[in-house]
Amino acid sequence: MPYRLDVTSDQDSYPILIGAGDWTTLAAEIGVRFNPTQVVVAMDETVASIYGSIATSALTKIGKPVGQLLCPAGEASKSAEMAANWWQALAARAVDRHAVIVALGGGVVGDLCGFVAATYLRGLRFVQVPTTLLAQVDSSVGGKVGINLPSGKNLVGSFWQPGLVWIDPAVLRTLSDREFSAGMAEVIKYAVLRDDGLMTFLEEQSPAILARDPEVLGPLVHRCCAIKADVVHQDPRETNGIRATLNFGHTIGHAIESMTGYSSVLHGEGVAMGMVAETRLAERIGLAAPGLATRLEDLLRLYQLPIDLPNFAWEQWHRAMLRDKKNVAQQVAFALPSRLGCVALKHDVAIGDVQAIVSC
Ligand code: NAD
Ligand code: GLY
Repeated sequence: MPYRLDVTSDQDSYPILIGAGDWTTLAAEIGVRFNPTQVVVAMDETVASIYGSIATSALTKIGKPVGQLLCPAGEASKSAEMAANWWQALAARAVDRHAVIVALGGGVVGDLCGFVAATYLRGLRFVQVPTTLLAQVDSSVGGKVGINLPSGKNLVGSFWQPGLVWIDPAVLRTLSDREFSAGMAEVIKYAVLRDDGLMTFLEEQSPAILARDPEVLGPLVHRCCAIKADVVHQDPRETNGIRATLNFGHTIGHAIESMTGYSSVLHGEGVAMGMVAETRLAERIGLAAPGLATRLEDLLRLYQLPIDLPNFAWEQWHRAMLRDKKNVAQQVAFALPSRLGCVALKHDVAIGDVQAIVSC
């Protein structure tokens, strides 16, 4: 550390800075890079209670007004109601197009804040300061922003790239073990997507990673962000099938989240169960050789992630999967691995094979 990566998309180019300094350095970077008329920090209540004062007082040094947008912690805040709440709060603060919004928190705040930034005044500049492992390796990069509807996850949203992603792996020390493990599901997803020795590294280094050793975490976060930045560069708006491979495990994972009401199962936990089931599906249809799912299960277990699917009637599974955004003409789509390092989007999986996998 420190590391710098540049993400180039169809909209813009922006840096990801990893381990580049403390809150004061972040404030100085925002001041110089954006010269904002005001700064608004978006946080959930948990993150606000831990990092709110230190972040706000550092940002005050820019010399411009600093405000806050708050929401309760948890997936339920990624809602149309909360977005409307924050739009009104921005209006009350007379926020103009030269302001900058800072998304300080996990993927929920990043997605919600990014959506509000994308839509208020037809677009405000925003900065991602991810504080969960999941947000540091995935959701803060690539500009997918949005909210959930009761009928499905991330159904309303946009592509709106941040102007800066600022990652400090040190903030992960206050994260709960369960949330840290949930983030590891997305890290493991990158290992299946790219291999590159990452799978073996994760198998061998689990004690240091689980101990959140900064010497190990910094390079790991950097490796994941580099993969994500490369995917986003090749397919910024998910139009050619490359970015959709990041959805490995997500068709089934999102269905689990939706069937369990976005409350009892964390996003990363749904992805963990989804990756195992989708790999078993790939093996069942002869796409992947037997053995990959078992290796993946062993790795997920090492990081204390769930692997067994919850029990739901097939009709519920099918209804939930039919709402997946990758589907075309009611055909449920999956990003499936054929081997380590090779995942591709499939639109032709027979529904009977899917039923056999989720009904096991
Ligand atoms: P989250 O934002 O709900 O954060 C998890 C919990 O950790 C919250 O309770 C939060 O208050 C707490 N927390 C955050 N940082 C902390 C810290 N440093 N110390 C202590 N507690 C902390 O959940 P998440 O897992 O970060 O994000 C999940 C969301 O991300 C889902 O909505 C998912 O759909 C979305 N997502 C988006 C993308 C994308 O590309 N936009 C990619 C993956 C996931
Ligand atoms: N997390 C999936 C994507 O960014 O495309």
